[in-house]
Amino acid sequence: MTATAENPATTVDLFAPDLIADPFAAYARMREQAPVLTGSMMGGPPMWLVTRYDDVRRVLTDPLFLNNPASVPAGRAGSRFTVMKGVSSDVVDYLAGKLIEIDGDDHRRLRRLVSRAFTARRVAALRPRVEEITATLLDRMAEAGRDGTPVDLVESFCFELPATVICELVGIDEADRADWYRWGRALMVPTEHAEQLPAVFRECADHLLAVIASRRAEPRDDLISALVQVQEEDGDRLTDREMVKLVFSLVLAGHETTMHLIGNSVLALLEHPEQLALLREDPSRWPHAVQELMRLGPTQFGNPRYPAEDVELGGVAIPAGAPVLPLILSANTDPRRFGCPERLDVGREMGTGHLGFGQGAHYCLGAPLALQEAEVALHALFTRFPDLSLAVAREEVPWVLRTGFTAAAAIPLRLG
Ligand code: HEM
Repeated sequence: MTATAENPATTVDLFAPDLIADPFAAYARMREQAPVLTGSMMGGPPMWLVTRYDDVRRVLTDPLFLNNPASVPAGRAGSRFTVMKGVSSDVVDYLAGKLIEIDGDDHRRLRRLVSRAFTARRVAALRPRVEEITATLLDRMAEAGRDGTPVDLVESFCFELPATVICELVGIDEADRADWYRWGRALMVPTEHAEQLPAVFRECADHLLAVIASRRAEPRDDLISALVQVQEEDGDRLTDREMVKLVFSLVLAGHETTMHLIGNSVLALLEHPEQLALLREDPSRWPHAVQELMRLGPTQFGNPRYPAEDVELGGVAIPAGAPVLPLILSANTDPRRFGCPERLDVGREMGTGHLGFGQGAHYCLGAPLALQEAEVALHALFTRFPDLSLAVAREEVPWVLRTGFTAAAAIPLRLG
């Protein structure tokens, strides 16, 4: 039985096998049951789960909902929410420094500083490199699948494209990328690499401090150099530790998410050949199509929020400081907001839009980069391999547990 606010004794398990196998159906059931339910993940503490578009949007945009429980006024803070069972507390403390977990003036200040370095111009300037990296990876895929052998898209393309792009943007030298890919793999599944994590964080932080020192001495055209420049010009100084955390959150936030947007989108388009045909007919539709692909995944939910005071949401009284989880995929497939919500429609008029990149003060900083990468990657992939097909039955694609994302472990494809 699914829990409701009236019946909080039973709770939704956000990692239940049926939800992982078919998130649309599971969220539809939850959404129609009640606007607010209770649930948990990985045996963590209970949370309030918000299921409908308008309420999810409110949680993401109303400043009453804070991103860090420590910001809730004294005496009201609920229990610290952690999904990282089995990960030592020094690691959780380190992770707690991410931009998404900072509120109010501190957040505005840091976001302004990083936005000055992470500009639309820098993203647009990266497009030719994204195209080049894509072409190299597609060449490699063509070689691997030459004799009809299925190629795993996740391993050969989805992992490497965003990883390479983010490393180039930030300014990680090619020689150091193997280390970053190794750290990335450990950080993607922290629960399985709990004992390695303190060492991974230390290695990452030491490495970034060394890169910052080297760019201070000799600036280049990369994000770390731009941040160093902001640091030097701005009275509102960015400390080295803040910079390490910022760069670290950008690399983490930008990698796995984009990887799954590309993978899930390939699956969705193979499943809807009529939509793919529309894109082949008129490639100028791609930028719009990528927004529709974003609406339907990979984001399942955002970071938890903590109301600064007692609040009513969807007719349910939620106490100050209690963790509230905005179920973004549920909002994005809410029939109250989108017609035929589970249908992929690359020409859909979205009006005020989907919530796949969040909304409000914490709206995804990397959205333009992610959209650009997905557009370049998908267009190039389907052009290069016009007869691309899934090498296994759709039900055999292995899905994996990822906090907040719909993620395939492997997508075996036949290239022609
Ligand atoms: C398809 C790829 C991506 C998806 C699905 C995605 C999703 C999201 C979502 C849902 C949020 C808001 C979470 C919330 O409010 O609870 C967010 C925030 C954020 N994203 Fe992304 N993201 C993607 C790509 C990127 C990239 C490429 C970068 C950086 C290079 C990035 C950096 C960030 C940062 C720094 C924040 C926090 C912003 C803040 O707190 O002010 N993301 N992202």
